[in-house]
Amino acid sequence: MSKVKSTFCCQSCGAQHSKWLGQCSSCKQWNTIVEEIIKKESTPTLGLTKDQLSSKIQLISDVDFNNDPRLSVSDEEFNRVLGGGIVPGSLILIGGEPGIGKSTLLLQISLKMKHKVLYVSGEESQQQISRRANRIENNSENCYILNETNVETILTQINTLNPDLLIIDSIQTLQTDLIDSSPGSVSQIKESTSQFLKYSKKSNLPVFLVGHITKDGGIAGPKVLEHMVDVVLQFEGDRNNLYRILRVKKNRFGSTAEIGIYEMLNNGLRAVHNPSELLISNNKLDLSGNAIASTIEGIRPIMIEIQALVSSAVYGTPQRSTTGFNSKRLNMLLAVLEKRAGFKLGTKDVFLNITGGIKIEDPAIDLAVVAAILSSNFNIPLKKGVCFAAEIGLSGELRPVPKIDQRINEAEKLGFKTLIISSQSKINIKTQNIKVVEFPTIESVLKILFKEQD
Ligand code: TYD
Ligand code: MG
Repeated sequence: MSKVKSTFCCQSCGAQHSKWLGQCSSCKQWNTIVEEIIKKESTPTLGLTKDQLSSKIQLISDVDFNNDPRLSVSDEEFNRVLGGGIVPGSLILIGGEPGIGKSTLLLQISLKMKHKVLYVSGEESQQQISRRANRIENNSENCYILNETNVETILTQINTLNPDLLIIDSIQTLQTDLIDSSPGSVSQIKESTSQFLKYSKKSNLPVFLVGHITKDGGIAGPKVLEHMVDVVLQFEGDRNNLYRILRVKKNRFGSTAEIGIYEMLNNGLRAVHNPSELLISNNKLDLSGNAIASTIEGIRPIMIEIQALVSSAVYGTPQRSTTGFNSKRLNMLLAVLEKRAGFKLGTKDVFLNITGGIKIEDPAIDLAVVAAILSSNFNIPLKKGVCFAAEIGLSGELRPVPKIDQRINEAEKLGFKTLIISSQSKINIKTQNIKVVEFPTIESVLKILFKEQD
């Protein structure tokens, strides 16, 4: 009779203990340790022969990797994010908030594949998936669906169907016979992933795993999950807004600087190729509190619109509220404005909004943020056709920002007439239709910003 073994596993970091503890000694989290029963210790052969499972030593230069070209996805945006397609035998984890569109994105990709795809869902029935596929409007001959949560059954089914791509939606719903704990527990997630990892490395089958995320925004389950896989993608965006960004957090076969931008429509996700045109409103009105900044998302320059509202505070403590911008950075910019340029906004409420529901961390939008705030404060619109790209330092100096040439090109392409940057910037390109104006400090910019209206 096999002995029943149990372990006390921390649900936060995955550390294993020999007895129950109130606080995990590894990650110091409270109440995260749960007893989990391990059924068997031996790992099954995953339907592969012993020969296929055993590894052999090879000279590095003898290893032929050109034989396995990347699988191309018909979605160009997705291909680019992955660094030029799906690498055979890779494990790709995609995380994101519930309802953001992970299942939609992967189903859409499966439907458009020219290779045989198996889409395994532990969350939705085959009817539900099929209804969604109908909505996305595609009748694929290559996409098979399976509603299953048992890892061993899935592996057996794969052996029968022999797909070229496997999609698991989601890893938290899976359960392996090796472990007795409930689906979604740390050891189940770890073990199930490791089974797919072994299978994909041996059989060269690329696997997409959908991962739920926790309250804090990390992928649910142990951190080791992110170490195990080859690529970690994050699908994010504001659920009340149409735009979604696919970011790369880790990529063993490409750059992590790439991003993909999508728009959620009634019939699935559409790749956005010219984000700047969508993110800037075509408002013909001269409104105060609006400024346009040039930012870089991944490796792409994007023009975004910043809106500020400054009003007298009703309560004793003025409110500072931001959407898509770091509120600590806003406080810093307000302090610089007061100390270096003499604008006292300490008694005013300041609201800041980046349009399109996008979060921006690029400090190059600092100057545009300050311009929007002052424009709202004085209730004077900024001059038309002006945009900004400069970081603001604590002494009120304008600091140069990286990739300035690309930013200038993008602003010129979109028809802007003036781009305000730091005088320390090094420009290597010649411009024809846009005037690039350089300033050393925030004070010097503000002098000319509202000049025409005065
Ligand atoms: P879903 O892909 O189920 O999200 P996740 O798998 O990340 O939880 O999210 C779908 C959301 O998108 C849902 O609220 C409905 C909406 N949606 C559309 O707007 N258009 C569509 O074509 C589809 C399929 C879904
Ligand atoms: Mg889903």
